[in-house]
Order: sequence, then structure tokens, then C-alpha cells
Amino acid sequence: MCGIMGFSGNFKKESSVGVVLSGLKSLEYRGYDSSGIAYYDNDDKVIKYIKKSGKLVNLSNEFSSIAPLNSDVAIGHIRWATHGMPTDKNAHPHIDCSGDIAIVHNGIIENYAVLRNTLKKKGHRFTTETDSEVIAHLIEDYMGTGKSFYEAVRLSSLELLGAFAILALNAGEKSIAAVKFGPPLVLAQKDNNIYVASDISPLIEYTSDVIYLKNSEIAYFHNGELDITTFKGKKINKTVVKIDWDASRAAKSGFSHFMQKEIYEQPARLLDAFSSRVTAGDGMKDNVGPRISLEGLKLTKKDVANSSKIILVACGSSYYAGLAIKYMIEMVCGLPVIVEYGSEFRYENFPISQNDIFVGVSQSGETADTNSALEVVKAKRAKILSITNVPGSQITNLSNKGVIYTHAGPEIGVASTKAFTAQLLCGLLLALYIREKSGFIPKYRWFNSQNIFKNLLELPKKVEKILFIDETLKDIAKKHYKSSNFLYLGRGILYPIALEGALKLKEISYIHAEGYPAGEMKHGPIALVDENMPVLFLLSNNILAPKTISNIEEIKARGGKVIAVADYEPEIDGLSDLIQIPETLEVLSPVLYAVPLQLLAYHIAALKGTDIDQPRNLAKSVTVE
Ligand code: AGP
Repeated sequence: MCGIMGFSGNFKKESSVGVVLSGLKSLEYRGYDSSGIAYYDNDDKVIKYIKKSGKLVNLSNEFSSIAPLNSDVAIGHIRWATHGMPTDKNAHPHIDCSGDIAIVHNGIIENYAVLRNTLKKKGHRFTTETDSEVIAHLIEDYMGTGKSFYEAVRLSSLELLGAFAILALNAGEKSIAAVKFGPPLVLAQKDNNIYVASDISPLIEYTSDVIYLKNSEIAYFHNGELDITTFKGKKINKTVVKIDWDASRAAKSGFSHFMQKEIYEQPARLLDAFSSRVTAGDGMKDNVGPRISLEGLKLTKKDVANSSKIILVACGSSYYAGLAIKYMIEMVCGLPVIVEYGSEFRYENFPISQNDIFVGVSQSGETADTNSALEVVKAKRAKILSITNVPGSQITNLSNKGVIYTHAGPEIGVASTKAFTAQLLCGLLLALYIREKSGFIPKYRWFNSQNIFKNLLELPKKVEKILFIDETLKDIAKKHYKSSNFLYLGRGILYPIALEGALKLKEISYIHAEGYPAGEMKHGPIALVDENMPVLFLLSNNILAPKTISNIEEIKARGGKVIAVADYEPEIDGLSDLIQIPETLEVLSPVLYAVPLQLLAYHIAALKGTDIDQPRNLAKSVTVE
């Protein structure tokens, strides 16, 4: 949801604008309505800027048509519009009346209308329809009273309401101030150069040592020095965090799209998610799971014993992962699980007990809806842990009982794929960890350490087998990509995967798709079925199979086209398509069923020629409520 990047230093290869432009490229998945860069021109000794609507390429074309720049301080922005249409004028940076201050902003300024009116009355001239422009004029106003640039930024930050990550550039000092309240900001320092960005992706090519700003903190770079203070002006020392992502993982590596590359990475990433955390434990002994070691998780036996339920909080795909994790925990731990949308939870009257265990699930760790819900939980002093992909992200600060990192590496495609399957796997690890603490004995024949361990080890290879049938999925996509509607149906632990499959298709192909529990179909959605409606069933060779097969017959009887994804060869006549995948344990099956649905959505979108990595209207991290 908007990305910002700033640089101050002397980068021999290129000017500050080149560094910021390449940083914005890495951040482009966060928003792509318009973009802009403001820089200090060392020759003319003024701030200059270019801003353009549309994709980042429009901005880089503008910069490539001007002479090489002599600049070592710059800030840039990639926009996902909230206030004001995505036009050239409304693009960031925003400049004050004097032209000495430029700002870029990620978030929403809730009191912008009041501030704007007050500043207008004082003579400030506004040129855009955005909420963000007010920040540049507010800083200017404070400087007009004799305050230093840093002090003006600090006092302005105290006046702003809402959510904001801001970079402000000042011509007089050639300095940058970075302000965080809500959306993320990460800093890195290397060879007298200082970098700041909305996330680590633009920084990893320079260094793996980063500093995460916390809420109500300001980083101020001037003359090669970096000072970090609170909004109250108190200097603070920050811890440097080492990131284990490498730059090559954030490149397309020969694939047509990041999404495709990320789907194909899944065997390796799934291995990363469990390999150092699971051991076979007590061998063949029945009813004992494998030994789980989740570094940094601080749930005690007492915490688990005192908890009467587990509540998962998440949004989007992470919410669907949460729904599947509910089945895993209930199966393995015998504890009831509730799954809540972050955006709803905050405004519900959910009775929060200090004894309950809350689990935030978020790829980015920066989703405002999820984090705001967890803030409410934290205020009630309940126990919070999280499953996230991004080290040091906001959700990790809220997690008083620790974090399970998904180790999926940078996910650039806006549609989540590898992070989703890694969340599922980490959810199972959490279930096994809680079971170990509770001593609960699941009443399933399959539940023994050796069996679970063996199936986990086989999982990456089974995902690879699904990737081998990619061409078949492409052929199926060719048959159906012109459809206007799709239904995805599944039962039990596969129902959340039906929801996720439908979401993937909607997000990247813009085809309307609904996910439903297969048993609910006859209670309404069946009215939609006709010969134009592909209905995709997730079918597993278990106790629920006969019921799902009856649902398939009901669709066929109404002329619907049935696509079945199954872990066996079902005896059903008249299927439009069968996608056969390997068999695994029921608790692991969501991982395998998710993969063909990702590939199908990918191929349908490719045939429709949509913008797969940056689908319209979406942003990777939704840092506003
Ligand atoms: C996934 O394909 C989506 N882009 C979206 O639903 C996403 O899962 C949601 O916004 C939550 O994001 P998070 O996992 O970073 O919290």
C-alpha cells in the first residue's frame, strides 16, 4: 500500500536518483498507480522532482531523457491511491510553498482536512487533492517559526492523526527525516550511505544488516550521520537485525512472472519451513507426534493448559490459511479454534480472556487490519504469537509469545502463493508444538511420529510432481479461460483451499469466482449452475468422498462443467477435467491442493493477458484500514 524509498550518501555507480529508482522497482508490488522522486541537485542547489501517473516505467523513462544527475540525496514514492485520483498532479512527492521541502507518504492522514484549512488560512497554497500534501506545508509552517528542520518534522508528527510512514527532504540541510507511525520503515547503513525503505526488498542488494523503526520514532540523516529519536525527541539506540534473504531470491530468474517463479519455488521453501524444526522424536511409538522446535516461541505448558481456545486473526489468503490451520489444531490438539478477520475483529465485542492464545497470521506482518486487531488483544494482556514471513515486521512487535517465521523468502507477486503454503505448514508445526505442550493424544491411526515425519519429508517432492503437470493445467486453462464465473467447492480441511483457489482466480484473472463448502452448494449457489459454469471440486479419498461425489453428480445433472482435483482416480463419468495429485496425510493435504489451483489461476490470467504480478487495484501489503 504505497512504497517509499530514500537514500543519502555517495554511491559511486549512480546518483541518488538511480538508487531510489531501483529501490522503487523492488517496491512496485506495493502500489503502481503513479510514482515520483524528489532529489537535491548539487549543481543548482535546489530540490527538483519528477512525478508521473501510471507504472514506474513512465517515471524511469522521464529520468532517462534528462542529463546524468549530480545528486546524493533523494526520496521516492510508488502510489496506491487513497485520497485523490492517480494523476500526475496527485502523485508524490509533495512540495511546500517555498520548494525547500519535499515529502513522500505511505498511509492516511485522518485529520488532513482540518490541518489543510488551518494552513490555507495562514496562506499556504495547496495544489493536489491528497491528504499527504498537508505534511509538507505543516513542516514548512513550523520552520517558519524558526524551528530547525528536524524539530519541525518532530512537531508535525505529533499533530498528525492516522497512519503514516513519511520521508521528508530538506534543501537547506540536504537532510532526510524518516517518520514512522503505523506503516513500516526499515533503515540500512553501509559505507557512509544511508538507505530507508518501506520494506527490506530494496535494501538486501546493499546489506543484510537492517534497523526497523518502531512507531513514534524518527530517523534523521544529515552529513552522513544517522540519529534516531522518539517523537518526544529522546535519542535511542536501535538494534541491528540480520536478514537471511538474499538478493537473487527477489529476481525473476528466467520465469515470466514473479508469481510463476514463486509457485515453482515451493518445494524448496517448504523444506526451509520445516527442515530444522522437526525431528522424528519417539520413533514408531503410537500417538506421539514428531519433536518440534520452534525457535523463539515462548508458550509454556501452563499457557496451553490455561487456554480454553485458540483464536486466529488474519486477512485475505492468510485468513484462509488460518481456516485450514483451525482444522489442523482441532485435529491434533483437541482445542477449539476460532478464526477471525482482522478487519472485523477490532469492531466486534469478542470477549478476550488473558488466558486465550491469539495467533496473528500475516505474510507481510504489516497488514493494518490484522495488526490493529492484535493491538486490541494486546491491550487486554492476552497471549499473542504470530506466523509471518517478514522478520522485524510490525506483527512481530505485537507477539508477546513469539513468532514462527515462514522462511518463504521475499514474495513479490501480489497474489500470495509460496507464503500461503508455508503458512499452512507452519500452522501444522504450531499444532504439533501445542499438542506436545498439552500432552493431548489424538485418536487417529495415522498420528505417530514416524508417519508424520515421513509425510513431511515427502511433501516437497509431491509438490514437485504437481509442478510436472503444469502443461496439463495450461490445457485445462485454455478450455475455461473465457468463462465469466467459477465455483470452487471443497469439504472439511479442503474447504479453505476452495476459498483460496477462488481468491487466486479473482485476483489475477478478474473472473468472478466463489468458494463454498461443497455441502452448502445445494443451499443456494446451485442456482448459478448452467452449461457455462465451470465448477471445481476438491476431492480426497476419505470418508467425505461419497458426499462430495454426490455433489458432483448434482452439478452434472444441471449441465455444469466439473473439474476435479483429486488425490486418487475417482470413478465418475463425464468429468470435464481431472487433475490428479499425490496423496498425503489429511493435515498436510491443503498444501498439495493449493498448488494446482495457483497454477490454474496463473495460466487463465496469462491467457487473458492481465497484469499477473500487479493486478489492478490491489497492493501487496495493505497498511491502511
Ligand atoms: C493474497 O493473494 C492477497 N494479495 C491478500 O489477500 C493478502 O493475503 C492479504 O492482504 C493479507 O496480507 P498479509 O498476509 O500480508 O497480512
